[in-house]
Amino acid sequence: MSQSLDNELQAKVDHAVQLLKDAYQQYGEITFANSLGAEDVVISDLICRYAPEIEIFSLDTGRLPEETLTLLAKLEERYDRKVTVYYPDASAVESYVRENGINAFYESQEMRKSCCYVRKVEPLKRALSDKKAWITGIRREQAVTRDTIAFSEWDEGNQLQKLNPLADWSEKEVWAYIKAEEVPYNELHDMHYPSIGCAPCTRSISVGEDVRAGRWWWENPDSKECGLHPATPLKKPS
Ligand code: ADX
Ligand code: SF4
Repeated sequence: MSQSLDNELQAKVDHAVQLLKDAYQQYGEITFANSLGAEDVVISDLICRYAPEIEIFSLDTGRLPEETLTLLAKLEERYDRKVTVYYPDASAVESYVRENGINAFYESQEMRKSCCYVRKVEPLKRALSDKKAWITGIRREQAVTRDTIAFSEWDEGNQLQKLNPLADWSEKEVWAYIKAEEVPYNELHDMHYPSIGCAPCTRSISVGEDVRAGRWWWENPDSKECGLHPATPLKKPS
């Protein structure tokens, strides 16, 4: 255990570890959705060290930055374990691109959400289909759409329990943990990308901008969710 975490952060780490252990005991069929973002490398570290029975998966949308995939390989090596990778249904992507174009997500929110559906939400449903609970790295501080999340809550859309062990962590605490435990992280974070998703939908931010300002920057902050964590569950687009 690290020497350099302050008492408050150490208490949050202990709480998160206990939550993960208890969740594994209670649900058994439990999995962690790992986007390879800063929060998720912290949770990966906690799982690999303290609750290694928990499965870890990533959704490779086909549009992820190279740096994210490099980090995936690095984490597998560091912890000597595999991350299960889910891909979008190839024919669904082909139809979307044929009908709408390769970068149609810039055209309207509807187009953006249907791309996210095909590339993220549908693969997520497959990843969760045989599970009783899933773990995510969302934090209350991240967005107006997330400010009421609980450590453990029923996910009505996906019909299983959802655990958010870092719900009450600040961004500063996430980075204090990464530095203290020397956890590998995405190189893009050092280039002013605090929040990283698909390459065409993520850009760097300027000093003082909101941490999610670089995600779908052309959209309104009230609606900047891709459908993995909707306030109201998304329906398959018709
Ligand atoms: S998003 O909804 O805006 O894309 P964000 O990038 O903040 O989500 O990540 C929030 C959480 O959603 C992550 O901590 C992770 O649990 C899950 N998540 C997001 N993207 C992925 C992904 N590509 N693979 C697995 N989990 C993901
Ligand atoms: Fe498509 Fe952008 Fe959503 Fe990725 S983030 S699935 S590229 S719209």
